[in-house]
Amino acid sequence: MGFGHVVRRRGSPVVRIVSVGLWLLGGCARERAASPPRDPPGAPSVTRPGPTDSLIPAGPLGAAIRRGRALLVATRDSLPGHVGNGLRCVSCHLEEGRRQATGSWVGVYARYPQYRPRSATVETIEYRINDCFRRSMNGKPLAVDGVEMRDMVAYLWFLSRDVPIAPPQGGNRLQKWAAFRADTAAGTAVYTATCAKCHGPDGQGTAVGPPLWGRQSYNVGAGMTRVRTAAAFIRENMPFDQPGTLTDQQAFDVAAYVNGHPRPDFPDKIHDWPNGDAPPDVAYPTQAARRKTSP
Ligand code: HEC
Ligand code: HEC
Repeated sequence: MGFGHVVRRRGSPVVRIVSVGLWLLGGCARERAASPPRDPPGAPSVTRPGPTDSLIPAGPLGAAIRRGRALLVATRDSLPGHVGNGLRCVSCHLEEGRRQATGSWVGVYARYPQYRPRSATVETIEYRINDCFRRSMNGKPLAVDGVEMRDMVAYLWFLSRDVPIAPPQGGNRLQKWAAFRADTAAGTAVYTATCAKCHGPDGQGTAVGPPLWGRQSYNVGAGMTRVRTAAAFIRENMPFDQPGTLTDQQAFDVAAYVNGHPRPDFPDKIHDWPNGDAPPDVAYPTQAARRKTSP
């Protein structure tokens, strides 16, 4: 199953989950090649941050956690009405959200509710999940009180086991990128040499890597369209087979190259950062910013 496949519509949710499980067990060569080895049952997690799977409780709660994880891994197949591109949640939240890097879900449940300036509201974890549905997945939000949302939250809750509830860490970890200037020619060269083999020369994805721009990619309102966010993600996580091998400058250049291409619009973006405090690398105008600059 590659990234360009046609989404099969399935019947009941139960059937869908079962087939997701079978897909995870068997059919997908890319999964086998790309995923880290699973912990043997009961063994402490050596390679994977977060609680070991053996701590998933038996019974209905454990079933909800496992269903939630299946939805986050096979998002498009399980929730076709809510996904408008060729991505799945774990395209950016790597290793089922366990990778200790930009996008980690380990401990995320303990950081919400949280005030975020993009919406200028106190966001619940459900709100934040739906933000990624609407922007990163270019799709439609889930019902906040539905079973799919409940199960996804159950998995994020599980991944946050033993993490104390506390406000997010202060300080802006993206600030280090403020000093960088993008060299697009250098970014093109990095892309061709390092990224194209998996994401395709035209950025539309291949069987082994999801799309990076165009109709099947994240939309203009997604966090990943900020060059600093993309640079941080790429620096820590890409190339997938050799993460950490790019310099900061190479990551920044290739992030600018990727985000220099067209992608789906997000008309609601105009309402972002209503207090006019958008970060400088946000590539679109907002109503609040216009109000601030007009006399
Ligand atoms: C195109 C990449 C991308 C995809 C796909 C994506 N996300 Fe995200 N997501 C991000 C980025 C970037 C952030 C901000 C991460 C950060 O600041 O460290 C984020 C943040 C989050 C957060 C809050 C993390 C925190 O620490 O506060 C949650 C929860 C989340 N995403 C859930 C989801 C879910 C659920 C899906 C699928 C419906 C999804 N994401 C799909 C890129 C993505
Ligand atoms: C060996 C193959 C491979 C290489 C090389 C590679 N990637 Fe990826 N990339 C992946 C895979 C696989 C994922 C998604 C992981 C998943 O779905 O489990 C991904 C995810 C991403 C994402 C987030 C999801 C999306 O499609 O928006 C970005 C951004 C990204 N890669 C950029 C890059 C850049 C830039 C380079 C070059 C520096 C690069 N990648 C090199 C395989 C690769």
